Amino acid sequence: MPTNTFANQLLLWYLTHGRKSLPWQENRHPYNIWVSEIMLQQTQVITVIDYYQRFIAHFPNVASLAAATSDEVLHLWSGLGYYTRARNLHRCAQQVVNDYQGEFPVNSLTAMQALPGIGPSTAAAICAFSTGQRAVILDGNVKRVVARYFAIEGWYGKAEVTRQLWQAADKLTPNEQLPEYTQAIMDLGATLCTRSKPKCELCPVASGCAAKAQNLTAILPTPRPKKILPHKTRYGLALFNEEQIQLEKRPDQGIWGGLWSLPEFTSQLELKKWLATHQPLAKLANLEAIPETTQEHLFSHYRLTLHLCIARLPTQHLAENSANYSQDLSWYDPNQFGSIGLAAPVKKLLPSLPYLLCPTC
Ligand code: ADE
Repeated sequence: MPTNTFANQLLLWYLTHGRKSLPWQENRHPYNIWVSEIMLQQTQVITVIDYYQRFIAHFPNVASLAAATSDEVLHLWSGLGYYTRARNLHRCAQQVVNDYQGEFPVNSLTAMQALPGIGPSTAAAICAFSTGQRAVILDGNVKRVVARYFAIEGWYGKAEVTRQLWQAADKLTPNEQLPEYTQAIMDLGATLCTRSKPKCELCPVASGCAAKAQNLTAILPTPRPKKILPHKTRYGLALFNEEQIQLEKRPDQGIWGGLWSLPEFTSQLELKKWLATHQPLAKLANLEAIPETTQEHLFSHYRLTLHLCIARLPTQHLAENSANYSQDLSWYDPNQFGSIGLAAPVKKLLPSLPYLLCPTC
């Protein structure tokens, strides 16, 4: 039995209320735990379950993932968002195969944290779940629990606040039952100690919670100061050639990195100039006749308005055209999108494709 009250109360609650049959709890191999923890960063359990199962069925071990192409990996990740995670996952698998003979260095938190995409909290979660060693986690949900339990004020973005939170999380972490404790504190944050309307009446640690005692649960944790997001406008080209659409592979860095998307331009003029040079036979469609040609996308650091321009090549143009195309610009048949990772603008366009593909529309 752990000696600290918080851990005791939490573990008791976990016995009856904690999550114990998530797919990644069936196999505590570091590979499985690692895949699940990366997917669970910024993504809810309910969304992750299917992606995790498909991913593990396709890549059952680190060697199979390391040997895959980046398109294969991104395809299985497509829809989960935050694609840097997928690229780091792939790089990490290759590093584990090359530097650690395919075995994650789970006995060293420092070595784990040095791997791509694995921060201090993720490293600790992987180590605690797969080996049971004492390791302190502090993910988004846990930060909320700890900030309230000790009534720690200030936004997490401040280094001093983060330092206090780590120190407090360390104080709460017991020396035994680490897999159960780690899951329990995550579950408490996800299910009861929610950002809005926390269910304090059901909380197993409410008796020791400073925020509850001081009536501060509604204002702790301190939210990020509001900022006005910059706004960008871009022009996306949806160029059709009979049943095919032209897609461009985006650079690895930046938004939708490594995914296939519509070629993008900073102005309509630039788009038209590109068409005149590369596809002089293409005809721009009458946009009034085509619904949903403006898309809005929201990112953590800016808002994007993407105006789509629809253009078509005269029929039977494909064979001559394909020859000029580079590795990063390709014709795709929407019926065979199969194994490529698609960026959000193309996914958003998918429901309109049957209409757009009609050459007489
Ligand atoms: N969030 C991060 N890791 C998690 C896990 N193992 N279970 C539930 N939610 C999580």
